[in-house]
Amino acid sequence: MDYDYLLKFLALGDSGVGKTSFLFQYSDNVFHEKFISTVGIDFREKRLIYRPPTEDGFLSQRGQRIHLQLWDTAGQERFRSLTTAFYRDSMGFLLLFDITNEQSFVSIRNWLDQLKTHAYCDDPDVILCGNKADLEDERVVSEERARETAKRYGLVYMETSAASGQNVAKAVELLVDMVMKR
Ligand code: GTP
Repeated sequence: MDYDYLLKFLALGDSGVGKTSFLFQYSDNVFHEKFISTVGIDFREKRLIYRPPTEDGFLSQRGQRIHLQLWDTAGQERFRSLTTAFYRDSMGFLLLFDITNEQSFVSIRNWLDQLKTHAYCDDPDVILCGNKADLEDERVVSEERARETAKRYGLVYMETSAASGQNVAKAVELLVDMVMKR
């Protein structure tokens, strides 16, 4: 085995919010404008070195080798029973909505209900991502509203863009940090 930890994360959220694009941007630094809806489930992999801070606040010399498995679920309702079966194995979640789509924001509640029912524990680590932040002109969900909602549900909130790459790696790395500290 050439890694120290295998971490499984899962992306969820309504169809079209940008889950596949987000994971592609993270793993391969690419973005496609064409929308090909995910059928069922898919995954991408990535290696990274995690350097936990030591007690004196410095980063430790020897990093831990992390093998990340990023599960990409179909947002479409018809795949729901298939995709929720994968929640139990996941240690961290990226819950995406699209800042230009009100319904995808309203759906957050339902996705959290799904998580509560199917995840490995009651309070899994979740990062709420307001995706498509590059489309500021089309924004319908304000950052303030999103932050309030995140706070109410006890989630970390980040504005991301799978198109520009804004905060994509940062969100995943923060989730690694949260899961490793658990
Ligand atoms: P399902 O597989 O159906 O659940 O959809 P998904 O959430 O995986 O969405 P996908 O990544 O396929 O993206 C849907 C569409 O939105 C595609 O046309 C993408 O190019 C576009 N898109 C995704 N993320 C962004 C983003 O951050 N900015 C912009 N401008 N477009 C995006």
